[in-house]
Formats: sequence, structure tokens, C-alpha cells
Amino acid sequence: MSETLQVSTSGGASHDLPITDGTIRATDLKKVPTAAGPLATYDPGFMNTAACRSAITFIDGDEGILEYRGYPIDQLAARASHLEVAYLLLYGELPTAAQLEGWEKQVNTHRLVHENVRDLIDAFRYDAHPMAKLMAGVASMQTFYPSSRRIDDPEARELNMIRLLGKIPTMAAWAYRHSIGRHFVYPNDELGYVDNFLAMLFQSQQRVYRADPRVSRALEVLFILHADHEQNCSTNAVRAVASAGNDVFTSAGAGIGALFGPLHGGANEAVLAMLRGIGSVDRVPEFIEGVKAGRAKLMGFGHRVYKNYDPRARIIKKACDDVFEVTGVNPLLSIAQELERIALEDEYFVTRRLYPNVDFYSGLIYEALRFPPEMFTVLFAVPRTAGWCAQWLEGVTDPEQKIMRPRQIYTGPRERDFVPMAQR
Ligand code: SDX
Repeated sequence: MSETLQVSTSGGASHDLPITDGTIRATDLKKVPTAAGPLATYDPGFMNTAACRSAITFIDGDEGILEYRGYPIDQLAARASHLEVAYLLLYGELPTAAQLEGWEKQVNTHRLVHENVRDLIDAFRYDAHPMAKLMAGVASMQTFYPSSRRIDDPEARELNMIRLLGKIPTMAAWAYRHSIGRHFVYPNDELGYVDNFLAMLFQSQQRVYRADPRVSRALEVLFILHADHEQNCSTNAVRAVASAGNDVFTSAGAGIGALFGPLHGGANEAVLAMLRGIGSVDRVPEFIEGVKAGRAKLMGFGHRVYKNYDPRARIIKKACDDVFEVTGVNPLLSIAQELERIALEDEYFVTRRLYPNVDFYSGLIYEALRFPPEMFTVLFAVPRTAGWCAQWLEGVTDPEQKIMRPRQIYTGPRERDFVPMAQR
């Protein structure tokens, strides 16, 4: 017998509302007619609202569980490649060896970017934030590939998602090269997805760049960890734009905009600024007191869903050791570790169930790899494009989905007569 929610309204009527059988207990309140009309919910920030049914990513925030299509994140991080995970997110199954080989060829065929996009990136000031350059480049892609607007055509959908997956590393690398005044490096078909990205970022004129295998694997793991995360803010933005009938490029451009926020993907950049501002381990207690007094947030801590340690943070913390073997330990690590130690014992954080999230340690790795902080969120957007494509596809093919148009509770004045200028 499935659970029901009994709702009795002041008019004396009562209703048994079915509670869905999914992973969270939810019911459909629009079915509750009252004397004054159907009942809506007021839920700012959608803290307690399921906006869709999805089969892509499962999170249990209390247990700190993350699975892509049912596969635990720690197993994928340890044994898969990023393109293998992208295939899994999109098609729902791990690829066979032949499928993976074909998939890699398909994605890697689409690494080149139209020269107009190069001009678009060049048109920015050199010090413009690379997320703005990336957002512009991705959003411009539907102008080069008009077939992307045919969102009801399965072949066009798949081709343009593959185009996006292939081209996003190139645009991200060019956004970085533009910011340091270096020539743009073109994709090298002899290199895999991550190694090619690293070469486009760091190649100098004199020699062909070959990443240290430990660095390449660490970035591959970071890509896998950032690939998807159910209905986070930027994925919600992608789905909202998609719900109006938009192509994957326009929708992903909106996702990049949402991810840019310091409370979301921009947090990894903010963590480094926070650690640098604290400056030394002995100043950590003073900073913590400032957080508890509401003068600052502990960036990289807290999560809307995880009320336990973010499983990705645990894996990234381990990846730090691999990268620091190559680059040397990032001196800010000791401040981060002291912040975590104190926060995990302090009642303020414990009662609010605040733990390190995916952004707390990732910036330390990116900085050790000599990325400037403004590139950290770009390094989040590149792998998250795989999840955005899967979520976009699920949204545009979901028969239950409609254009996203929430209601509001109006609090302004009503029915006022126009006031002539002379009387204002
Ligand atoms: C990502 O959603 C996703 O899945 C996102 C993501 C993904 O993969 O897509 O996981 C990636 O965005 C990770 C989060 C990165 N952001 C940060 O690290 C920024 C710092 N964190 C906070 O801003 C905050 O924790 C959020 C935004 C992440 C979550 O905020 P919520 O769920 O809206 O929680 P809240 O702001 O209502 O906080 C509840 C309480 C409040 O205290 P009280 O008002 O009850 O006294 O906890 C406090 C908050 O003040 N709090 C913090 C805090 N986070 C929450 N206090 C200090 N430092 C923090 N970081």
C-alpha cells in the first residue's frame, strides 16, 4: 500500500494525495482543489521541490552517496575515463570497448572551433573573466550549427551534443590563452580528451607539450567528479532554458552563467581567495570566529543536499597527494586542513551539518597546476557539459515536462490610478 498525504481544507473537504514512489517523498499539490482554487507551494530556492523525474544521477545527502546511472562515484573515479563517463551519463550504460572507441573518435572529430569563435574570444579585453568568454563562445555555437535548433530530431540532438563535448575544451583553452596573451593552440588528434586539453592550455611554441601521467590522471578524475550532480543551480538553468524549446548550446550557455556564481561553481575560486586572505594556520581560529559571527562564509563548505561529507571532496583530497608529488605541496593546504579540522569539531558547523564540498580542495590542485584562480570555474564547466547534455536531452524528451514558469506570491500594491506628473 503506497503512502498518501491526507489534506483536509477549511471547507471540510479532505483529499488523499499519493506520495510518489521515487527517491524523495513528494506529492502533487496542484491536485488539491480548495474553495479558493488549487493549492500551490511557496518554496523559494526550490529547497524542497522536485522539478522533474530523472534517471541520470542519484544523491543521498544524508549518507554522502553519489551515483551516475547507479554506478558509485568512487568506482568511476578510480576506473573510468571522462569520455566513458560522458557516454554513461548520456546513454545510460557503460560503453563496450568498441562503443568507447567509436565515441572517442566522434567527440574528438569535433574539437575544432569555427574561426569566428576565435575572433569572438579575441574581441574581449585580455583580462575579461574566462567564464564570460566561454559563455559567449558556447552560446554562439547555435549560429554555426542551425541544425541544433531542431530539438525534436534525434540525429540533430546527438550530433550537436557531441559537437559541444568536442569543442568546449578548445574554447576553454583559448579563453585561457587569450588572457595570458599567448597564441591559440589547435587540437592535436594524437592526444586523448584530457591530454589534448592540457596541451592546448600549456603548449609553448618550442616543444610539444606532454602532460605528466599523474597530472593527466588527476585532471581526468576531477573531470569525472564534476560531470553531473542532479538538479543543481546550473543544471536547473539548463533545463529551464531547454523547457522553452532551446537547443543544447543556448541551454549550456545559460548553465555556464549560473555556474559562474560564487555560491555555485565560482566557489572553488573563492576558496583560494579565502585561504590566501587567512594567510597562516595560526589565523584560522580568528577567521572561524568571523564566520560564526556572520562576517564571512566558509567557502567550499556546506551544500544544499549533502548534510554529510561530499564524497567528491574525499576523492579530491586524495588526488591532491598525487598532484603534489609532481608539483610540490601547495602551501595553502595546511590552512585548508586546519580549517576543516576545526570546522568538523565546532558546534556551529556540526549543528548546521556543514562539511567540505567539491570546491574545498579542487582549487588547491588547480593552483598547483599553475592555473590562475579565474580559470577554476572554467575547469568545472568543461566536464559539467557532459551532465548538462544528458540533463538537457532528458528534459527535452520528457513527456511530463512543460515550459518552466513558477508562480509567485504578489506583495505589491494593487489597482492604483495613474498620477499626472504635476501631482507626483
Ligand atoms: C556547488 O547543488 C549542487 O549540487 C552544487 C554542486 C554541483 O556539483 O553542482 O555540488 C557544486 O555549488 C557546491 C557548493 C559550492 N558553494 C560554496 O562552497 C559556497 C559556500 N556554501 C554556502 O553558500 C551554502 O552552503 C550553499 C549555497 C552551498 C548551500 O546553501 P543553502 O542550502 O541555501 O543553505 P543555507 O544558506 O540556508 O545555510 C543553512 C545555514 C545558514 O545558517 P543559519 O541562517 O541557519 O544560521 O548554514 C549556514 C547559513 O548561514 N551556512 C554557512 C555556510 N553554508 C551555509 N555558514 C558559513 N559558511 C558556509 N559556507
